[in-house]
Amino acid sequence: MNLDFTYQNPTKVYFGKTALDNLSSEFVSCGDTIMLAYGKGAIKKSGLYDQIASILKKSGKNIVELSGIMANPTYEKVMEGAALVRENKVDLILAVGGGSVIDCAKAISVSAYCKGDAWTRYWLKFEPVDNEIIPVASILTLAGTGSEMNGGSVITNDDMKLKIGRVFPSNVNPKFSILNPEYTFTLPKYQMVSGIFDMMSHLMETYFSGEDDTTTDYMIEGVLRSIMSSAKIAVKDPKDYEARSNLMWSSTLAMNPIMGLSKTQDWEVHMIEHQLGAYTNCTHGMGLAAISFPYYRYIYQFGLDKFVRFAKQVWGVDETGKTKQDVALEGIDAMETFVKQCGIVTSLKELGATEEMLPLIANSTVLLGGYKVLTAEEVLEILKTAYAQA
Ligand code: NZQ
Ligand code: ZN
Repeated sequence: MNLDFTYQNPTKVYFGKTALDNLSSEFVSCGDTIMLAYGKGAIKKSGLYDQIASILKKSGKNIVELSGIMANPTYEKVMEGAALVRENKVDLILAVGGGSVIDCAKAISVSAYCKGDAWTRYWLKFEPVDNEIIPVASILTLAGTGSEMNGGSVITNDDMKLKIGRVFPSNVNPKFSILNPEYTFTLPKYQMVSGIFDMMSHLMETYFSGEDDTTTDYMIEGVLRSIMSSAKIAVKDPKDYEARSNLMWSSTLAMNPIMGLSKTQDWEVHMIEHQLGAYTNCTHGMGLAAISFPYYRYIYQFGLDKFVRFAKQVWGVDETGKTKQDVALEGIDAMETFVKQCGIVTSLKELGATEEMLPLIANSTVLLGGYKVLTAEEVLEILKTAYAQA
């Protein structure tokens, strides 16, 4: 652990089948007015909305509703929520849903009392937040982003065609998060497997970059193996509690600062995906999967030893009689086979990209990289390969 770090995570996690029982006690000290923020209706269909509304009423809270938060939430929706917070003097934003709802809640939290345009200040210029922050809490219904225990907030500005993620300091994290794996049982398979690739990608973005023998690396390998093992079960039986609970906790860990300690990181796959999302509005995890294989087959040569370790430790590749290149590529192939077996989409065409979009996406992507900082031309080549693949 050669790089110094400070780690603090203020999110209290209630995990398991009875986690919701803790909600009323959390309401005791959180103020009178609560914004109930949610998506386009999944929680009404599942009955979770009624359960939460009943606890809110019994606790004597004023409820302000913000419904219709879309996947890949927009800045326009953030502004709608921010206005509601100011008008109603909201004390707590309770986000119920997946990463989009929780990210939107955090964005509202920092934007409601921002002096000036929050998009420009907090997502374009990455300025420190210097205004009142409304506390956020979450009830998670989709495992993938890790938003339930981090300060991340990814927002799309439709007018500018930019999707930008910002990890705010930990005072923007949810104060508490309720994680009941059973809430994920109603997810369509498409969303479940997209979340599975998202959590894998978070771990790989941290793993494939410098500082190659840290406790963090060993933890990542372990969590990746847990995800693979549980994903295989969950794909066959989505109501297997043990598998879904392992996936939920793995996801929370995967995009949590604890999994990046003492490491520089990559995040180029996410940078490309965010711009892909800005142009296509595709499902985040599927976009990551489409980009990852051409990206890793290009970048592995710049971090060869780590890709060899990945193949051996995570995918069980036998290195006997093989070159390092062969072993590294076999690891990537094994991951692709797994991804296809899960039903994860890897075709950019299927995700709504057109050939004309590719240069626009490449030219608007933030250029990062662990082993190599890409050029826009290299990003374009990766996108073209992703576009051609099935
Ligand atoms: O809108 P509703 O009706 O809620 O339906 C949602 C939505 O259509 C549905 N869904 C969620 N839980 C369900 C359910 N349907 C049935 N049963 C349930 N239990 O699933 C759809 C997708 O939901 P969404 O919240 O968009 O998915 P996800 O959790 O994957 O979030 C994606 C967003 O998070 C950002 C992504 O870029 C994207 O904008 N990310 C946030 C990160 C963070 N905060 O740290 C990191 C990630 O890398 C990621 O960038
Ligand atoms: Zn992600």
